Amino acid sequence: MEMKKRSSFSSRIGFVLAAAGSAVGLGNIWRFPYLAAQYGGGIFLLVYLILAITFGFALMITEIAIGRKTGLSSIGAYRALDKRFGALGWLASLVPMIITPYYCVIGGWVVKYFVEYLVGSGTALSNGEYFTNFIGFLGEGTFSTPLPWFLIYVLLTAVVVLFGVEKGIEKVSKLMMPVLVLLTIVVAAFALTMDGAIEGLKFYLVPDFSNFSFKTVLAAMGQMFYSMSLAMGIMITYGSYMPKESNLERSVGQIEIFDTAIAFLAGLMIVPAVVAFNGGDPSKINAGPGLMFGTLPQVFERMWMGHIIGGVFFLLVLFAALTSSISLMETVVSIVCDKLHCNRKLATVIVTIGVLLLGLPSCLGYGPLASVQILGMAFLDFFDFISNSVMMPIVAFFTCILIGHICGTKLVSDEVEKNFPFHRKALFEVMVRWVAPILLVVILGSKILEVLGVLKI
Ligand code: TRP
Repeated sequence: MEMKKRSSFSSRIGFVLAAAGSAVGLGNIWRFPYLAAQYGGGIFLLVYLILAITFGFALMITEIAIGRKTGLSSIGAYRALDKRFGALGWLASLVPMIITPYYCVIGGWVVKYFVEYLVGSGTALSNGEYFTNFIGFLGEGTFSTPLPWFLIYVLLTAVVVLFGVEKGIEKVSKLMMPVLVLLTIVVAAFALTMDGAIEGLKFYLVPDFSNFSFKTVLAAMGQMFYSMSLAMGIMITYGSYMPKESNLERSVGQIEIFDTAIAFLAGLMIVPAVVAFNGGDPSKINAGPGLMFGTLPQVFERMWMGHIIGGVFFLLVLFAALTSSISLMETVVSIVCDKLHCNRKLATVIVTIGVLLLGLPSCLGYGPLASVQILGMAFLDFFDFISNSVMMPIVAFFTCILIGHICGTKLVSDEVEKNFPFHRKALFEVMVRWVAPILLVVILGSKILEVLGVLKI
C-alpha cells in the first residue's frame, strides 16, 4: 500500500475535517474531564493549554510534515528518514493496537447509556450506584453487564471498516458534530445553575498552584497525545494524504483549536457539576474513568426534557466515538494488511477477533477480574497508562531526537514553508530540539521510577 500513489484530500478543509473527526472522540468528552477533576482542576487545564500550544503544536506539525514529505505511513516514513528508526514506526503502530480494544469497551458503555435513555430508563441511570454496579457486573441479567455492549460496539466498528462505509459515517458525523457542540454548551450552562456549581467552576478555571505536581504534567501530556491522536503515527498517515498546496501550519492550528475547545466544553459540563453534587467541596472529588457516566445522568435528571436530552447526548457521543474507533481500527487493519499480505476483509476479521480478545480483560476488569491488578491498576487503567504515559512519550521523544538532532528541523520547516510562511518556526525548533525531549525524559523517568517503587513523587 505504501508504494501506491496516494489520493489526496480534495480540499484543505477536507483534510482538517478528517483529522479533526478522528481527533475528537472519547478523549475529549470522557477522558479530559475526569483527568481535569482528578489532577487539580484549573492547574491541569493551564498545564494542558500550555502544552497544547507549544509541544502539541510542534509535534503535530512534525508528524504531518513527515507524512506529507515522505508520502508514507509511519512504519515506512520513519525508516525512510533514517534506517535505524524503523523500529520507532513499529512502536508507534503498536499504540493503536493497545488503544483500540479498551476504546471499544468505553464505546460499549456509551451504547448502554444511550439505549437506557431510549427505552425510558433514564432515572435509573441517575442513581449514584448505577455505574459501579454496571461495570462491576452486579446487576441482574446479561444486559446489565458491560459485556454484550462491548460486543455490540466492536461489531458496529468492524462492520463499517469491513464494508468500507466510513465515508457515510463521516458525513453523518459532520452533521452531528455542531449539534454536539451546541448541546454541550446548553448542558454546561444548565449545570452551572446548580447549587455549588460556582465553586466547581472556580475549581475548573482558577489554577491552584498547590495542586501542581509532576503527575499533573504527565497526565496532561498523555492526554494531549491521546486527544490529538499524536505520537502513534496517525498524523503521519494523515499528512501523507495532505495536498502539497495546503497551508500546513494553519491546518494544524485549526485542528488543535477545535480539539481543545471541545475538551474544554466537556470539562465545563462535567467538572462543576461533580463539585455541585459533592456539596460544593472540590477536595471531595473522587474522579476516575466513570466520572462522565456517573455525573451526566444526574444533571439530565434535573433538566427540563432531561431524558430526551440525555438520549440525544449519548447518541452524539456515540458517533464521535465511532469515527475515532473506526479510524483506529482502520489503522490497525492497514498494518495487518501490509504485513501479512492478506486482503482487507481477512485483515478486518483478524483485527476484530484481536480487539475482542484484548478488550475482554478491560471489559471484565472492574467485575469478575477485579482481583487481578497490574502495577496496582485494573486492566483498562493499565492499558490506558502504558499507552498514554509510557509508549507515546517514548515515541514522541525519539521523534524529537530524529527531527531535532539527526535529520534536522529544516526537513520539517522546508515542508511547512513550501507555499506559506512558517510563523511559529522558532517555537517549533526550540520545542523539538530541546524543551520537549528534556521534559519527556524528566517526566517519563520520574514516573517509571515511581511505578517501580524507587521514587516517591
Ligand atoms: N483522539 C481520539 C479521541 O480523542 C482517540 C484517538 C487516539 C484516536 N488515537 C487515535 C482516534 C487515532 C483515531 C485515530 O478520542
